[in-house]
Formats: sequence, C-alpha cells, structure tokens
Amino acid sequence: MSTIDYSEKIPNNVNLSQDRTLQRALEQWQPNYLAWWQDMGPEGSRDFDVYLRTAVSVDPSGWAQFGYVKMPDYRWGIFLHPGDADRKIHFGDHIGEPAWQDVPGEHRANLRRIIVTQGDTEPASVEQQRHLGLTAPSQYDLRNLFQVNVEEGRHLWAMVYLLHRHFGRDGREEAEALLERRSGDRDNPRILGAFNEKTPDWLAFFMFTYFTDRDGKFQLCALAESGFDPLARTTKFMLTEEAHHMFVGESGVSRVIQRTCEAMKELRTDDPGELRAAGVIDLPTIQRYLNFHFSVTIDLFGADQSSNAATFYSTGLKGRYEEGKRADDHLLKGEHYKVLEVAGGRVVEKEVPMLNALNEVLRDDYIRDSVGGVNRWNRVIEKAGLPFRLAVPHKAFHRRIGALAGARIAPDGRVVSEAEWNAKVGEWLPTEADRAFVASLMGRVVEPGKFANWIAPPAVGINKQPVDFEYVRFN
Ligand SMILES: [Fe+2]
Ligand SMILES: [Fe+2]
Repeated sequence: MSTIDYSEKIPNNVNLSQDRTLQRALEQWQPNYLAWWQDMGPEGSRDFDVYLRTAVSVDPSGWAQFGYVKMPDYRWGIFLHPGDADRKIHFGDHIGEPAWQDVPGEHRANLRRIIVTQGDTEPASVEQQRHLGLTAPSQYDLRNLFQVNVEEGRHLWAMVYLLHRHFGRDGREEAEALLERRSGDRDNPRILGAFNEKTPDWLAFFMFTYFTDRDGKFQLCALAESGFDPLARTTKFMLTEEAHHMFVGESGVSRVIQRTCEAMKELRTDDPGELRAAGVIDLPTIQRYLNFHFSVTIDLFGADQSSNAATFYSTGLKGRYEEGKRADDHLLKGEHYKVLEVAGGRVVEKEVPMLNALNEVLRDDYIRDSVGGVNRWNRVIEKAGLPFRLAVPHKAFHRRIGALAGARIAPDGRVVSEAEWNAKVGEWLPTEADRAFVASLMGRVVEPGKFANWIAPPAVGINKQPVDFEYVRFN
C-alpha cells in the first residue's frame, strides 16, 4: 500500500489500475494538466535538469528520492497516507461513527467546495511564482523554487484525484475548471484573495512560502482530521511536502536578514538609503513585506464568524488544528470564543459561540505558529548585536475579510483616522518605491556556489550536497 507504482502512466499507491473508468478519466485530465504546466509553470525552464526529490513511498522514513529531472517529466501522481481500517470520526455530531470511505450524500456539496477551494490554491501559487526563476539569486534557490512548484502541482493532483474518484461528473468538471482559472485574472481569477496577489520578487517569495504556505499547513492539518477518510489520508501526505516549503521561506528570509546585518555592521549604519546603496534590503523594508504577507494570509482563514465553519465542524468534514490532541468534548456546543471588532474607536473583544468562530480559532493557532519563525529571525539580528526587532502586526491590521474588513488599524492595534492611515501607510506596508528597489536587486545568478549580494548563502545544501553543488543544469 505504501509503495508507489511508477510503472504506470500515473504513479500511484491507490491501485488505480483496478478502476479502469477512473484511470481513463485521470489519463484524459493528465495532458490538460501538462498543457497548463507548459503554459503557466516556471517560465523558460523546460529543458533544465533540476536536482529534485520525488516521492517513492509514503512511509515517513525514506519517501524521497533525489535526482536530476526535467520538470515537465516530473512524475506527478497520487499518494495517500496508508489508512487505519478502524478509524472513527472524532469530532462533531457523527463522533464515534466509522470514518466515511465514500462521500455521504448530504455532505457532498460542502465537501466538494472544501476540496475545490484547497485545490485551487495549488496551481495558483505556481502561477504566482512563474517568473521568479528568471531572477533567482543562486542555483540553490532556483532548485528550491522548482521543488516547491512541482510539489504544488502534485497537491493539485491530490485534490483532482478526490474529485474524480468521489464526485462523478461534477468532480470532473471542477477538475477542468481548476486548470482554467488564473491567478490575478480579471475575468476568471483564483478563488481566494491572497492567491491573486503578485509574487514579484524573491523577498515576496520567501515571505509567501513562510506565511502563506503555512496557511496551507493549517488548512491541511484541519482537513487531515476529516471524517471523510480519503481527504484525511491525502492531506496527511501533502503535509510532509509542505514542511519543505515553509523551510524555504523561513531560511530564505533569515538569509536576507543575515546579509543585511553584515552590511549594517560593515558600514556601521542603519540608514536605509546607505544600505540600499550597498545593495542590501534594509530591515524596515523587510518589516513592511512581513506586514503585507502576514495580513493578507490571515485573511485566508475567512470571516471571524461563519456558519459554514460551524457546519463543516459539526458535520465532521473539517476539524480543528490538532483536534485529536484536544481534551474537550469535540462538539463545542455551548462553548464560547473571543473575536475582535471595532467599537467606540477601539479594537475590542467580543464573546461569540465557538462553533461559529472556528475560522478565528484556526487563525489564532496559525498566528501562534508563525510568530516562532519571526523570533528566530530576530535572533539573527540579536546575534549581530543590532537593536532592531521584527514583529508580526496586530491581527486587526490591514484586514479585508470579516468584521475588521476595511477598518483603519495600525500595526500596534490602534484604531487610526483616515488621515493618519494615509500619512503612515508607507511606513507600514511596502510602497511602490520599496518594491521597485527590491526589484532592482533581482538579477539571475547561475554559477554554482555564487549568491546574489543581498542574500547570504545557506549553512548547508540540499540532501547533504555541498552549497556549491550543481543544483540546476541549464543545458
Ligand atoms: Fe500545496
Ligand atoms: Fe506549499
């Protein structure tokens, strides 16, 4: 069960060859997927040999195999975590019942929506990142970008398998639509806001993989609890891949900070103008990027009060983060939770039924997790003996979804006037000038072991290879 059959057209560990109708349907979708990859995947990369990892088993130990692959030949496939035959639903109204192996009719529409929404983010991020290969700061970073891209492609396969296998004709239509929407397209955009934003430069990419891929982690963790067992099993395996994406983000930002701190010490200055002249990204600009990516990402958890969130939980479709480790009754009826609103010129807390606040619960779990990496970034600055500290902005800052949407709130949580917002927004969010400056640093570095001036090399290479290993052969 855990070994993947690579002799088939679509590598899988779900005995695809036993279900000829399903196999044929997916084999018809496959060329459309490849056409999408050619069209919207990493630009100009078709003939590169890239040192990539490929899943060969879903066992926690040794699932990855490394080797040179041309990306269009990457073996995208269908890998589910091995199931537990006796698994029970462990939250909501169906608690204690056997987990579903097929979609219960009454939950079909909601499950389809959950799977499509998750699936839509996967190709969206590939589209958002498709130009970045042209300005990679090193071969090492280029390889990491491509690894993230092929795995997001595989995550799309994971969701498309569920749609084809469990949702009949509707599912096949949704699978086609996933290849038709485009990130940022005016007429046919991706479903969620943050996935229509641009990822124009590598600082944005590292912030995206740190913050927005972490949203992916929390959504996948909540779905890994699902009473619909195939969804739980597929998201569990996706999570093992997601960890690397967040590593790329955390270590990427950390290396940018490290290089900036080196320049600050060399030049004995914290003046952004002097640092920019020296070709590194000043810390206040990094803070503004952080504010932007953090705020658009926490919007992805949805409205702070949501009857859909309550339904998804009570019907056993989507759990909380680490549901199984929590000590409460896993029903949550009569429980309360605090959400935020603006009242009397201040951000205040308000108690609401917890079932309706489960988006907020997941958002708060996410925020706790994302602060960890910011603290580790601060240690790099501290080690350099510099007083600057990065911080995540207040949860109410720059929100577009829920009760706080459109409120004017500073990163420290103060409600501010329109005038103050307009006067200060350039200190809080990246300006056109910031983005133009960061863009001006982006130039392709292709020689093994060489790095752009604005980023420090990593401490170690990929898969124990040296940092100056040839991670990409450009041919
Ligand atoms: Fe993903
Ligand atoms: Fe990811």
